Amino acid sequence: MTQLRTKIAGLGFYVPDNVVTNDDLSKVMDTNDQWIRERTGIEERRYVTRFKDTPSTMGTEAAKIAMERANVGPEDIDFVIFATLSPDYYFPGGGVLVQRQLGLGHCGALDVRNQCSGFVYGLSVADQYIRTGTYKNILLIGAEAHSPGIDFSTRGRDVTVIFGDGAGAAILQPTTEEGKGVLTTHLHADGNYAEKLAFMNPGSHSGVFTGQDDIFPKTDPYASLMITPQMVETGQHYPNMDGQFVFKNAVKRFPEVIGEALQATGLSVKDIDLLVPHQANLRIAQFVQKILQLSDDKVYNNIQKYGNTTAASIPIALCEAWEKGLVKEGDLVCLAAFGSGFTWASALIRW
Ligand code: COA
Repeated sequence: MTQLRTKIAGLGFYVPDNVVTNDDLSKVMDTNDQWIRERTGIEERRYVTRFKDTPSTMGTEAAKIAMERANVGPEDIDFVIFATLSPDYYFPGGGVLVQRQLGLGHCGALDVRNQCSGFVYGLSVADQYIRTGTYKNILLIGAEAHSPGIDFSTRGRDVTVIFGDGAGAAILQPTTEEGKGVLTTHLHADGNYAEKLAFMNPGSHSGVFTGQDDIFPKTDPYASLMITPQMVETGQHYPNMDGQFVFKNAVKRFPEVIGEALQATGLSVKDIDLLVPHQANLRIAQFVQKILQLSDDKVYNNIQKYGNTTAASIPIALCEAWEKGLVKEGDLVCLAAFGSGFTWASALIRW
């Protein structure tokens, strides 16, 4: 029987028009261009235009481009996978919002909550459906609007300077072309470090994992535990990150999970034509590049322009690299991600 594999039939990305430079940020918090560039490589990022762009609207725009390039219409899409950590609504998820905006009919819509690894996790899920012949056109989106939910005071500067908004999308289809398509995917997680990079409030945890109970009202049994005045007063409704701990784990897990994918396919680092790492931080990507001994032309980075767009970063970077002609027929493309969870993941694709 002919083996079905998953190919990327179309890619698209959307970033908001609103460019925010490091100098812009230094006007609202105690930071500066030099610090941000030296530690993260970021020069500017995009922020949603308020009251216009959301993760699902940006995902929809990216999807339209991917669909046109894949030559598929709304009636052809038979499954949606939407990855984000910054959803339009707490519920329902962004998948159904995209489905509505694109007029997709009643296909299934799945939401993925794996942060920076969300796109690769989504790709792995889609790959299973395509290989088994269940679906023929899957729309996979990674989209984030961080800017509405980060702390623009100096208190939040370590997190805030890193993140940007945007969306990327891919149309995934079956292929029977010998040796082509998604060759392998590898997913990992370690929940022991769940709070090391997290956006915990609003949430339903009521402090049971963190022991923090000063942000929850004790006397009123019906008071909201999701969002409380104390949370807002102390800024605990913003994301938090142990930057150095994240960095140390990232530079270990990226090479590890890339190595795992190579081993599973009997390939070696020398076979990689293009590595598209999650755009966490340019220093992390450079560290990984050095460990793997990859030349500059084999690693695609665009964090300088967009910041870290979490689930959107890999599809934005992959699409931009493809648009620049850096992804060619027959190339071996490696995707790799690490982030909150911790979760980490890789995929190898023969284009
Ligand atoms: N601007 C200016 N100074 C800042 C700052 C900012 N945006 N953010 C933090 N600082 C200050 C700190 O307060 C600290 O000051 P102090 O020495 O007076 O206490 C100093 O800079 C150094 O902070 P530190 O946290 O030790 O810096 P670092 O070298 O670890 O760099 C990160 C911070 C966040 C850039 C770095 O840890 C990192 O890149 N981590 C990985 C983050 C990441 O990739 N996250 C996404 C994963 S998907």
